[in-house]
Amino acid sequence: MRIESTLLSNVEISPSYWRMRLTATDEFVRQASPGRFVMIQAGKSIDPLLRRPFAVFETGIVFGGSTAYFDILYRVAGKGTALLSTRRENEMLDILGPLGKGFSLSHAAGEHLLVGGGIGLAPLHALAKKLGGYDLATRLFVGGRGRNDIFCLDEFEMLGVECRVATEDGSLGERGRVTDILIPHLESTNGNATIYACGPEGMLRAVAKLAAEHRLSCQVSLESRMACGIGVCLGCVVPGHRHSPETPDFRCVCADGPVFDSNDLDWEKTR
Ligand SMILES: Cc1cc2nc3c(=O)[nH]c(=O)nc-3n(C[C@H](O)[C@H](O)[C@H](O)COP(=O)(O)OP(=O)(O)OC[C@H]3O[C@@H](n4cnc5c(N)ncnc54)[C@H](O)[C@@H]3O)c2cc1C
Ligand code: FES
Repeated sequence: MRIESTLLSNVEISPSYWRMRLTATDEFVRQASPGRFVMIQAGKSIDPLLRRPFAVFETGIVFGGSTAYFDILYRVAGKGTALLSTRRENEMLDILGPLGKGFSLSHAAGEHLLVGGGIGLAPLHALAKKLGGYDLATRLFVGGRGRNDIFCLDEFEMLGVECRVATEDGSLGERGRVTDILIPHLESTNGNATIYACGPEGMLRAVAKLAAEHRLSCQVSLESRMACGIGVCLGCVVPGHRHSPETPDFRCVCADGPVFDSNDLDWEKTR
């Protein structure tokens, strides 16, 4: 679906991290299941030519009105996101989405462990909201380099999610990586938990390995570089396992994902 959205707000919530709210259609909100993403034309001209992909952080109805909206959280990483941070209220943005396949809740039993690294937190809020609706125990493990890389935890807490934090410089929560706070918890799950993770590739590889060691189901949301976002250019493929001679040995992140069962990916070849 392609929509022309009106920018409702664009606020820096922590140094280099922004939250943008855009109008949506009711149909968009219905289709925006947790983990799906949008492709946004960042500038007002054709430069940069390619849209940039962002997870849908939240959807809702504007307070006191009937207009549907969605939020993205983004980190200023380069040209596209820097341009996005200059966009102002009431400007129009060209959006494709919601795209891709999001998190599967078919394994929804036991404890739900959400693991986010930095901006990888973005797709996990909508997921936490959905899991809350099923009345499932949900914990969030989040990591970043320092306290500026940790945000929006109050919004997870409002959903009843228990949040645990690790920062590499020790400025918030425990000093270390997110896996350092996840490991002790995994020991207590007795194999009755599902992991949902999004963050840098190294973190995802480590989390997938831990899940395999503890025989836990694990879904990972990947952030490959994308050009078309709709399965045409094959610019986003990652190595996957061939389940049968007919199955390809790669996965298209935009169309087959961005969320995958961690066992479907060939982590050795992604190095
Ligand atoms: C499905 C999906 C969902 C995403 N959701 C979010 C989100 O919710 N919030 C958010 O901030 N970002 C998200 N990203 C990443 C985001 O799309 C990129 O950061 C953005 O496209 C960078 O554009 P840019 O023009 O600012 O940077 P560029 O000028 O294109 O690149 C700047 C630097 O960032 C690196 N880079 C660019 N894209 C990526 C990437 N995908 N992964 C790793 N490094 C990259 C480049 O190598 C370069 O070093 C998502 C990516 C995908 C595929
Ligand atoms: S970005 Fe073009 S196929 Fe995925």
